[in-house]
Amino acid sequence: MRRLVVTGGCGFIGSHLVRHLLAAHPQAEVVNLDLLTYAGNPENLADCAGNPRYKFVRGDVADPAALDQTLEGGADAVLHLAAESHVDRSIHDPGPFLRTNVLGTETVLRAVLRHAVPKLVLVSTDEVYGSVPEPARAAEDAPLRPGNPYSASKAAGDLLALAHRNTHGTPVVITRGSNTYGPFQFPEKVLPLFLTNAEAGQSLPLYGDGGNVRDWMHVEDHARGIAAALERGRPGEVYNIGGGNERTNLEMTRAILRLLGKPESLVRLVPDRPGHDRRYAMDTAKARRDLGFEPRVPFEKGLEETARWYRENRAWWERVKTGAYRDYYEKQYGDRLRAAGPTAARR
Ligand code: NAD
Ligand code: TYD
Repeated sequence: MRRLVVTGGCGFIGSHLVRHLLAAHPQAEVVNLDLLTYAGNPENLADCAGNPRYKFVRGDVADPAALDQTLEGGADAVLHLAAESHVDRSIHDPGPFLRTNVLGTETVLRAVLRHAVPKLVLVSTDEVYGSVPEPARAAEDAPLRPGNPYSASKAAGDLLALAHRNTHGTPVVITRGSNTYGPFQFPEKVLPLFLTNAEAGQSLPLYGDGGNVRDWMHVEDHARGIAAALERGRPGEVYNIGGGNERTNLEMTRAILRLLGKPESLVRLVPDRPGHDRRYAMDTAKARRDLGFEPRVPFEKGLEETARWYRENRAWWERVKTGAYRDYYEKQYGDRLRAAGPTAARR
């Protein structure tokens, strides 16, 4: 590989993927196209800034000119991760989700065709299958039943990509990853939110009864899965990439509290997220068989290392949790925590 273009490389998974690609392809230049929205943070790639093979372009994936400029130098592949990624924000305002995840993905698909890029990996999510009742698991051909605006916008991106493949022969491969955790995750997602709140002695707002199930995958495993799809994925195919660590949110919360030595009294059961999907669970046999992908990081070890990272990088998340983050926090949790009882006001 000579030149790889990543979109959304200043985000959580994208920053790990950029690092992974620079190491795995020692001859390749890795170009990162990112708009730097609230979730994009150049600090996530501070260690790559001096690498002559790493290049950053600030731009919007929904802007064809930004893609033309980025792809002018040619590319062996585009790895498309740029997205609005948080379910709760999509409930407040779906507009940016439709723009970036639907229109942006369509714009990337057309640019890949225009520039005859030989491969596009579209990074999608297990959430497109919607809630999967026990004991079923969604395989790649399961119906798409997205349950919130975020997952609906991701499902629309997947469908556009498959339609593009059918209509134009666009060489797109789709990965559907499960809930991901690890260093540099924006502290709006549950795991870094709870780790940082617990560190600061603040409440952990657990939605509903805490019984919702997610399958946790370490971010380095997710990056390896995306890289495996780049190398071995067949155009037009979808691959489920999972961590194999299904936990209820309550189990995950208790594991965090045990690790940090914090009391359960920090947990607040708060009014549920509307339309909250009960369980995500995928059948991942196809990725094992066709991509040779197996997650490697055991959940307990990954969680312990992640907890240590947030403890040792307090300055990173304290900077992130300022300004607009505080407004978001009040909008999302103010009433919920007040509804959970008088002690819930401690934030
Ligand atoms: P993130 O929110 O941490 O980062 C998103 C990045 O995209 C940011 O750097 C942001 O600046 C950039 N971006 C947003 N809109 C853009 C635009 N219009 N143009 C260019 N850049 C833009 O997201 P993440 O958690 O790293 O997720 C990355 C991808 O993986 C997303 O497509 C998401 O749907 C998918 N995914 C995430 C998870 C998870 O658990 N986090 C699981 C499965 C799939
Ligand atoms: P989240 O990290 O938002 O990921 P997703 O909704 O994409 O799975 O949430 C993971 C789980 O944690 C989900 O079941 C919702 C729950 N959750 C809480 O209980 N409290 C919170 O404050 C957040 C953000 C999530």
